[in-house]
Amino acid sequence: MIYYPLSVLMLAGVREIAIITTPHDQDQFRRVLGDGAQWGLRFTYIVQPSPDGLAQAFVLAEDFLAGAPSVMVLGDNIFFGHGLPELLADANARTVGGTVFGYRVADPERYGVAAFDATGQVTEIVEKPANPPSHFAVTGLYFVDGTAPERARAIKPSPRGEVEIVDLLQSYLNEGALDIKRMGRGYAWLDTGTHGSLLDAGNFVRTLQSRQGLQTGCPEEIAFRQGWIGADDLVRMAAPLKKSAYGEHLLSLASERTDAFH
Ligand code: G1P
Repeated sequence: MIYYPLSVLMLAGVREIAIITTPHDQDQFRRVLGDGAQWGLRFTYIVQPSPDGLAQAFVLAEDFLAGAPSVMVLGDNIFFGHGLPELLADANARTVGGTVFGYRVADPERYGVAAFDATGQVTEIVEKPANPPSHFAVTGLYFVDGTAPERARAIKPSPRGEVEIVDLLQSYLNEGALDIKRMGRGYAWLDTGTHGSLLDAGNFVRTLQSRQGLQTGCPEEIAFRQGWIGADDLVRMAAPLKKSAYGEHLLSLASERTDAFH
């Protein structure tokens, strides 16, 4: 699962990544992902001792960030769509303020939801509202500037005891420093937080992969196309996976002609 959000960061050109997990899960993530060097990345592992809210990530990662702008993606979010790299590059180019993405969903009450005024400006982002002010959910992908840790530290926990991401976004919004870009219907934004949505996401990825004969969310492929690793690295990583479609995909990438359609 983590390959999908990780792929989004890689498509945005991000190579230094902090992976924040529960204390219990960290070892498992280390076993699967290592130090990232195999994909031309550098991973730092950080523990969130208890589930005290998404915005706390910026406090926990303060030393790692060292004042730099950053992007956070949630581990259960999947993004897919033509033009995604360009959308990410635009957001990444902004070093002051924040950028988030609004996506129309049928069940906004499960998410952070944008409220609009009569001119179409976003006035507020509300977490899991019983009566959603719109159908536009804020996706789990947040580009923020270097002030995020200091802002996150100033947030008081909500009634459910969490340092809410919507409160961090609201602090940018109040200063006119939050850009809310619309992710149009040509994109797929899926989350996997319930059994049903996990099954939907699985079916979506399976449909694409079997139709196209390509892999969705393949860090090796992105690293290769970004020029962070070479064809010989692909062949080496494919060896233990040879009997799977994933391994075959890596091998076919390694032998791809540079002028071929991919
Ligand atoms: C979190 C955020 C919410 C956001 C959602 C996106 O909710 O709190 O604002 O819209 O992620 O997936 P959670 O998935 O933790 O319930």
